[in-house]
Amino acid sequence: MAVFYLPQGREIEIFRHAWRSRLPLLVKGPTGCGKTRFIQHMAEALERPLITVSCNEDTSATDLLGRHLLLEGETRWSDGPVTRAVREGALLYLDEIAEARADAVVVIHSLSDHRRELFLDRTGETLEAPDDFMLVVSYNPGYQRSMREMKPSTRQRFVSLSFDFPAEENEVRIVAEESGVEPKIAERLVRIGRKIRHLHELSLLESASTRLLVAAGKLIAAGVPPRLACVAAVAEPLTDEPEALAAMRQVIELSI
Ligand SMILES: Nc1ncnc2c1ncn2[C@@H]1O[C@H](COP(=O)(O)OP(=O)(O)O)[C@@H](O)[C@H]1O
Ligand SMILES: [Mg+2]
Repeated sequence: MAVFYLPQGREIEIFRHAWRSRLPLLVKGPTGCGKTRFIQHMAEALERPLITVSCNEDTSATDLLGRHLLLEGETRWSDGPVTRAVREGALLYLDEIAEARADAVVVIHSLSDHRRELFLDRTGETLEAPDDFMLVVSYNPGYQRSMREMKPSTRQRFVSLSFDFPAEENEVRIVAEESGVEPKIAERLVRIGRKIRHLHELSLLESASTRLLVAAGKLIAAGVPPRLACVAAVAEPLTDEPEALAAMRQVIELSI
């Protein structure tokens, strides 16, 4: 299998059952903990094409469904990613769905319940999703608490899986495998990550993720001195606050 994914629990089994039962899936968890990697792995395991949309506060229904384009004087309908995924029976992954505009979230309602239909108001078409089609959305519950949360009426439609940073041993294996550093170094990187995650007084918006530890490992594997690599790949991306940076530097210097 080309996409390396180390399971955290029984998520592969649940995903397979949801797919077979034609139920949509919600994966929640902090940034950089392996959600996207998991979906990529499952698309490959199920031999389905994967169509990913990274949602942001500008993502609208039109962006998802499609639009009429003027091409050489002619108007032509052009499918958006959601429409394309339904036509192809693909695995559709809407990353950070809670960020999207309300009209975009409404688009997925009829797709996420028993109807499994997509209504294109611009063309008057109703598409029925083929059996192979699956909708997966992700959501980061801790991210900017004051911002839009997912509405209960939307959430209730999804089978849901909670992700978190991998258990220590697993994270060491992931960092070693992904970055190419030796296990001893991976262990130290993971220790740094775990310590920073426990420094609540830093009040970071997001914490030292597996992704950042992998990035530090890659720099080290490329020959960057370990402390410098950790500051550049872990500490600096997390904050601009001098005090928080100093605290993280200290953790790094004590650990590697
Ligand atoms: N369980 C895992 N198996 C393999 N790699 C992982 C795993 N968890 C995290 N990673 C590594 O961390 C990186 C970030 O994970 P990603 O799936 O992009 O996070 P998210 O989508 O949750 O923000 C991946 O590119 C991969 O290198
Ligand atoms: Mg992701």
